[in-house]
Amino acid sequence: MDKVSVLFVCLGNICRSPTAHGVFLHLLNCNGLDQCIRVDSAGTGDWHVGRPPDRRAAQAALNRGYDLRDLRARQVSTADFAEFDYILAMDRNNLQDIQRLCPVGYRGYLGLLLEYGSKCGQTEVPDPYSGGESGFELVLDLVEDACTGLLRELSTSKASKRNF
Ligand code: 4NP
Repeated sequence: MDKVSVLFVCLGNICRSPTAHGVFLHLLNCNGLDQCIRVDSAGTGDWHVGRPPDRRAAQAALNRGYDLRDLRARQVSTADFAEFDYILAMDRNNLQDIQRLCPVGYRGYLGLLLEYGSKCGQTEVPDPYSGGESGFELVLDLVEDACTGLLRELSTSKASKRNF
């Protein structure tokens, strides 16, 4: 069976989407699924391309056991739509930006990461870049919860019924 592939997208690819990338990869490794599901992350903007994750995001993640230090920012591109089955945005602005890039006939799923979360009413991962430390903890809380839900979704028959 082909690998299912997931791309997480935010604005800069230095705070939220690398956090989701690191958390989801950790979950895959813990569940022995890293050979079955591929994960990556990207930003809609190009300001931070080639840079490691934001120091505050990396430290907050490391405090919970997620090592983001090898990740490097890149910008989302139209080629990603041929590569990824799920492209999941952190907020609605990110989603609109990738919807604009999305080629007609894309057969994967484009949506918000928090659709897979259990926290009712919270649909977006707030941008922590200009705030304090607590913003990075909230990102981790939301991302951990939604990544657990996403893995559950991908492990059910629903995922295999998609035309990947
Ligand atoms: P991210 O956070 O989209 O979660 O990576 C941001 C990083 C950088 C900027 C904004 C948000 N920025 O304006 O440079």
